[in-house]
Amino acid sequence: MTTYIGTATPRVDGRAKVTGAAKYAAEFNVDGLAFGYVVEATIPKGRIVRIDTSAALRVEGVLDVLTHRNRPRMADTDEAWKDDVAPETGSPFRPLYDDKIKFSGQPIALVLAEEWEIARYAASLVRIEYAAEPHVTDLYAHRDAAFVVEKPVKPRGDAAKAYAAADVRHEAEYFIPTEHHNPMELFASTVVWDGGGKLTVYDKTQGVQNVQRYLCGVFNKESDDVRVLSPFMGGGFGAGLRPQYQVVLATLGALALERSVRLVLTRQQMYGLGFRPATIEKLKLGAKAGGTLDSLSHEAIAVTSQFEEFARNDTGWGALLYKSANANYVHKLARLDVPTSADMRAPGATTGVYALESAMDELAVALKLDPVELRLRCYSDRDQNEDVPYTSKQLRECYRQGADAFGWDKRNPEPRSMRDGSELVGWGMATGIWEALQMPMAARIVLTANGHAEVSSAASDIGTGTYTIMAQVAADALGLPIENISVKLGDSTLPQSPVEGGSWMAASAAHAVVTVAEEVRKELLRLAKKVPDSPLAGAKLADVVLTDGRITSKKDASRAVSIADAMRHGAVDRIVKEKANTFKNDSSHARNTHAAAFAEVKIDEQLGIIRVTRVVDAVAAGRVLNLKTARSQIIGGVVWGIGMALHEETAYDHKFGRIMNANIAEYHVPVNADVHDIEVIFVDEPDEIINPLGIKGLGEIGIVGVAAAIANAVYHATGKRVRDLPITLDKLTRAA
Ligand code: MOS
Repeated sequence: MTTYIGTATPRVDGRAKVTGAAKYAAEFNVDGLAFGYVVEATIPKGRIVRIDTSAALRVEGVLDVLTHRNRPRMADTDEAWKDDVAPETGSPFRPLYDDKIKFSGQPIALVLAEEWEIARYAASLVRIEYAAEPHVTDLYAHRDAAFVVEKPVKPRGDAAKAYAAADVRHEAEYFIPTEHHNPMELFASTVVWDGGGKLTVYDKTQGVQNVQRYLCGVFNKESDDVRVLSPFMGGGFGAGLRPQYQVVLATLGALALERSVRLVLTRQQMYGLGFRPATIEKLKLGAKAGGTLDSLSHEAIAVTSQFEEFARNDTGWGALLYKSANANYVHKLARLDVPTSADMRAPGATTGVYALESAMDELAVALKLDPVELRLRCYSDRDQNEDVPYTSKQLRECYRQGADAFGWDKRNPEPRSMRDGSELVGWGMATGIWEALQMPMAARIVLTANGHAEVSSAASDIGTGTYTIMAQVAADALGLPIENISVKLGDSTLPQSPVEGGSWMAASAAHAVVTVAEEVRKELLRLAKKVPDSPLAGAKLADVVLTDGRITSKKDASRAVSIADAMRHGAVDRIVKEKANTFKNDSSHARNTHAAAFAEVKIDEQLGIIRVTRVVDAVAAGRVLNLKTARSQIIGGVVWGIGMALHEETAYDHKFGRIMNANIAEYHVPVNADVHDIEVIFVDEPDEIINPLGIKGLGEIGIVGVAAAIANAVYHATGKRVRDLPITLDKLTRAA
């Protein structure tokens, strides 16, 4: 029965969020709370020679100042510091561990005080003497020192030979600068001292069980001693996948004071966390005159820290999208004196596909082909890297429906040919692709005889709508109105869940709920059969459904027993079941979501102002559970694509190795005035292979391809190709 699945169900947590009833990590109050403030390093590399905390300690209300010298004990092995999603290679960062400085903005002292303002003031009195060492923060200056990592897929054919033999060749370098996540909610932890070394930790995180295990490792605690909660999150975007340093420092503070401690990072301090790595992307495409791609080479050089190797798949997407017998991929990392780079919405694809889809546009221009037509000529129905088909791939429909809605057939291919008054008009398009992942996850259902069900799991809802889709799926699976379902998430003591990320939560959570609901149905049928003169006496499990609060025969709807009767006769007031989903994640098929993004820009050439006046994003992502929250996800991704194309850039002063715009006044993101019409199309994509409900997940696909579509539109409007993002007015007006 699907009463709720597939509808535009409003968020079940919407009221709590808009009324302030939903509490975030820094909003949980307890008696005797002390407050922390972080002192950061102001050099990118070197050693702390001396820390003078005496003036800070003299301030009334200051409780302590922790440094690497006087902090409580922490683990000394890399293994203990590795969280569930830490890079395989490297040595995770340890805050306040020793005298070494690894990046500007590194926490080096924690001031603890009775009030936050006192802690902040006292922090300004901490004096630090450094022994600085030479540093490097500039990717371009260090690109030749980059080394190859194993990440990319294996080459096919002979890309160099095919490139040399091609009729039309395109070679160019593209650049995406470092970007920071900037979630609205600041990173924060409230560590509640429960006595006897037991801790309850309210943390801003995308994975409470990940943080729980991490804290147990770092502080050598028993599992029962640490409980981590994150019921709501004001934006994650990948920044909250790994535990962030504030949770370690807040715990250090609580252990040192034997008292509850809250630590909130400032907006500026959050620029000392992970980021989307600056990446140089080198594309070489060789085609036959008719528009077949014969050679595809993609090399990426991305930033990582000196101490960990963070690498994502930037280069492998081309052969998932386009037929090419010859392909070569190289992924390199450059070690800079910065924090370890991190996942940010569709990591790898957002950057790699920007470059690929810009290069495809340039190839279409060289071939004198319509950009959509080129993509259709190269269209691949197989993942050529693994030589397997897709579970489903409705990308052709994305191109068709997106182009229709946009009015693409009215495009004059000539650059600078379209105008609206004094503005140049440009139309561009690009393809998007992301993975359709699914993970093991467990859920618990507690059904009470009054027909109410509580569904729970340790998963976090990072704002994507997990509470709502779990309620929808549970309501359908249990045959109850959605008002009778409550969902509990974000508590490490609840059933096992992965971190929320990678767009895998919708498929994982929905199947966890369906799997455990099946157990509830079994139990209800067992009870229903025992009701005197049961109309379901001979029924098998496969013959009954739960609908309208009843266990009902599929063949004859008049044969039914209400849930209330079944439970009352069985003298059962609660049914409690817990179970994990299982997926067939074999390698027989590729699992991906796809999109076609079409963008219109209007450009005042004299002022260099670019407006993105229209975007149509046609998305094929399997079955859509909730049209409302799904649409929100895609709109959010498109807005971020606008930011990536035109605004976002973390600017470094390489002489000092420091970020110059560590605030959202100078780190530009799109505001309301930058966002015009955005139309989201969900292309019908039945998928009976990927999982029983045909769900793929769509938290990330919305951003992929959008920046390229806008950059391609800017070229169409102006005849000018800006390959280094963001496309700012100085670049638009600079000499070619
Ligand atoms: Mo997402 S970058 O997996 O939170």
